[in-house]
Amino acid sequence: MNKVLVLHGPNLNLLGTRQPEIYGDETLADIDNGLREQAVLAGWEVTCRQSNHEGELIDWIHAARLDATAAIIINPAAYTHTSVAILDALNAFEGRVIEVHLSNVHKREAFRHHSYVSLRADGVIAGLGSQGYQAALSALIASEKPNA
Ligand code: DQA
Repeated sequence: MNKVLVLHGPNLNLLGTRQPEIYGDETLADIDNGLREQAVLAGWEVTCRQSNHEGELIDWIHAARLDATAAIIINPAAYTHTSVAILDALNAFEGRVIEVHLSNVHKREAFRHHSYVSLRADGVIAGLGSQGYQAALSALIASEKPNA
């Protein structure tokens, strides 16, 4: 069974109440439950984790190197724009990486226009709200090799 790790960075635990005009009304649990349902239909397994701590996110990326995780979908939130350490951890992960942002970061403040994680990501989705996560998972499932 293909395993996908979904990582959510800082402040995303507040989704639903945090600036809903930017990030939407859905909670993180809504998003994660939807991804799990989508994965099960395709015979995939999704593990979702959120942390407000850079090191914890890095530890989960390291663990994914060792437990046959095929891909990581990551919304690094503010660490997108600051974290060389998360980039380095993702560079040490051999599976596929898709970077997701709920908002269109390119339409926002200039400091959000640069992403360290994009230097590693195989794909980047921004501005589609929670549908961005679903699109990322769909793309991974669709690209599954027939006898993988
Ligand atoms: C975000 C965009 C980031 O700039 C911001 O710091 C976030 C969320 C997004 O999903 O749109 O926390 O990654």
